[in-house]
Amino acid sequence: MTLLVHNLSQIATPAGRTARRGAAMRELSVLEKAVIIVQDGRFAYVGPENERPRELLIDEDFDAHGATALPGFVDSHTHIPFAGFRESEFNRRLQGETYETIAASGGGIASTVHATRKASEEALTANVLARATTMARYGTTTAEAKSGYGLDKECELKQLRAIRAASDRSPVRLVATCLAAHEFPPESRNSEAARQGYLSTILAEILPAVAEEKLAVFCDAFVERGVFTRDQGEAVLRAGVELGMVPRLHADEFSDSDAAALAASLGAASADHLMHVSDAGIAALAASETVANLLPATSFFLMSDRYAPARKLIDAGAIVSLSTDCNPGSSMTESMQTVMQLATLQMKMTVEESLTAATLNGAQSLRLAKETGSIETGKRADFVLIDAPNYLHLVYHFGVNLVSAVFRDGVQHVSS
Ligand code: NIG
Ligand code: FE
Repeated sequence: MTLLVHNLSQIATPAGRTARRGAAMRELSVLEKAVIIVQDGRFAYVGPENERPRELLIDEDFDAHGATALPGFVDSHTHIPFAGFRESEFNRRLQGETYETIAASGGGIASTVHATRKASEEALTANVLARATTMARYGTTTAEAKSGYGLDKECELKQLRAIRAASDRSPVRLVATCLAAHEFPPESRNSEAARQGYLSTILAEILPAVAEEKLAVFCDAFVERGVFTRDQGEAVLRAGVELGMVPRLHADEFSDSDAAALAASLGAASADHLMHVSDAGIAALAASETVANLLPATSFFLMSDRYAPARKLIDAGAIVSLSTDCNPGSSMTESMQTVMQLATLQMKMTVEESLTAATLNGAQSLRLAKETGSIETGKRADFVLIDAPNYLHLVYHFGVNLVSAVFRDGVQHVSS
C-alpha cells in the first residue's frame, strides 16, 4: 500500500535520526509545501511534490487541507493501567491539603493500589485501551505504560498482562515497564522487616516472573525519601538488568536522592521527574546517554512552583524528553500537547526543543529512536496532522486539541 499525503502547509520534524542533546534539540527540519509518501507502513519519501520518485506508484491519496505534519508524539512515562480515580483527593488538595499528607493518611498511591487489586485483568485492559485511545486523539503514537499499582506478584503481573492484551487493539504502540518498586504495599509498610520482605519479593519473585512471561522491556523504581532508598532502587534495577530488562528511574521528584547520578551510572534509559535534581546530577546526565525525562504536568497538577530545571539540563548538554506521567494522583492527563505547552510556558524550553523532546528524544528513552520519533525516510510512518499553518501553533494556540489526523505505521487511527 502506497499513500501520498499532500496539500500540507508544513512538515516539521527534529533533524536527524537519533536523539538530540543540548543545543541540537533546537534544530528542526522544516519543509514548506512538501509531501509525504508512505509505503508498507514506513516513510518512503518526504520532500517537494515535483521531485517525488515516479516509481512509487500511489494507491491512495490524502488531502491534508493545509495542515502541518509532525512526528507522532512519544509519551515515554505513563501509569495508565490503573482502576479508580482520585478526584476527591484532588478536591482536598484544592482546599490546601498536600499530596504527601493525603498519602500519609492512607490515600495517594495506596488508594489506587486498593482499586487496582480489585479490578479484573479485563477491566484493566479496557482502561488501558480507553486511555490509549484518548492519547491517540491527542497525537500520541507510542506510549510507555507502567505497572506499580499492584504491589504483589499476582497484581503486578495482572497489570502487565493488561498492557499486553491492550496492545493488539491499541491505536498507540505500547511499551511496558515493571514498576513493582513504586511503593511498599500497605501490608508491608509498618516495619523495616516487612519493607525488606517486599524488596526480597520483588527481587526473587516478581521480576523473575515478569521476565519469564516477557511482560516488560523496562524496569523502574521510585527512589525517594520515605519510599525506596538509593541502594534499594539500585538493587531492583540491577536485578532487572540481570533478567534482561532495561532500567529507568523515578529520580529526584520530591527531594534530591542522588538518583539522577545513579540512573546515569547504571546506563539507565531515562531518569524521570528531576524536579529536585542537583547540579552534580545534571552534570552526570549531561555526560551520559541517559535521557532526562521531564514531566511538567505533574508540577502543574500538584500546584507546585517547582519545575525540573529544563534550561540547565539542556544548556549542560543533556538529552531531554517530555512525558505526561498520566496517573490518577499527580497528573491526570493524556495530552502531550498540554505537556509541550507547560514545557515552554513554565520551564522556558523553546517550541523546537519541546517538539524534539516530545518525539525523537522520547523515542530514544524507549530505545526506539531508530524506528520512530522523526519523519525520516525508512522510519515507521508515525505522524500527526495538526490543524495549523506551522508548528509554532502547537504552543501558541494552547488549550485546544489541534490534532486532526493520526497515522501509526502508515495506518490512520484518528480522523477529525
Ligand atoms: O510519577 N512518583 C510516583 N508515582 C507517580 C504518582 C502516582 C500516584 O500518585 O498515583 C508519579 O508522580
Ligand atoms: Fe511517574
